Amino acid sequence: MNLRHIAIIMDGNGRWAKTRGMPRFMGHRAGIAPARICVEHCVKLKVKELSLFMFSTENWSRPQEEISAIFDLLIKTLGTEVKKLHDQGIMVKFVGQREGLGDKLINIMKEAERLTEQNKIMRLNLALSYGGRWDILQTVKSFIAGDQFNISEDKFNEAISTHSFSDIDLLIRTGNENRISNFGLWQLAYAEIYFSKLLWPDFNEGELDKAIQLFESAQRRFGGVYE
Ligand code: IPE
Ligand code: IPE
Ligand code: MG
Repeated sequence: MNLRHIAIIMDGNGRWAKTRGMPRFMGHRAGIAPARICVEHCVKLKVKELSLFMFSTENWSRPQEEISAIFDLLIKTLGTEVKKLHDQGIMVKFVGQREGLGDKLINIMKEAERLTEQNKIMRLNLALSYGGRWDILQTVKSFIAGDQFNISEDKFNEAISTHSFSDIDLLIRTGNENRISNFGLWQLAYAEIYFSKLLWPDFNEGELDKAIQLFESAQRRFGGVYE
């Protein structure tokens, strides 16, 4: 299987909670289990890289109460999950803007990356306070700061914050929305895209398999001609 890298825009937590008469926060809490399921399933299928879009640069515009709830949940979840991921041989990497995340979380992130950096089974990229436009802009800024104006695609690939990631082969977006919402604009150039009608807390192995089937049935031409 040529499927190396799956990325997921995990959307629909708030609506999932709302339809159950619960606060949005409960939807975020219910979103942990499907993330775990995806990690397990990808390991089983020998997918080498999984990226999860957890919080966008635009999500900072949400009510402070929801933001705090999301970050409290994140700190708690990483506290228990990182060790399990490490035991499974998974390398954890974070991508996104670190400013504004708070020392406690930043230390947890650094420690998770340090602990798991030699792991080889699968790589798990967690996009936090991440935006595709932010990513491209700060890469361009790094060229300007370095006084280097001969930008090429290869040099850009080396300088971007996701330089150690592979290109995304399959993007899944849940939550019944047909958009990218500023996820990896550079990295998605030739990704196959599967839009799932399921809200993220309802996402499951069967739906992941359907997305993988879509990938497998696609003829990837990369602009060329298929013989
Ligand atoms: C995705 O679910 C999680 C984040 C963006 C943090 P949402 O919170 O966007 O849920 P909906 O789309 O409002 O249902
Ligand atoms: C995308 O979901 C961001 C994440 C899943 C982290 P949003 O809920 O923020 O996207 P929009 O607002 O529906 O485009
Ligand atoms: Mg949403």
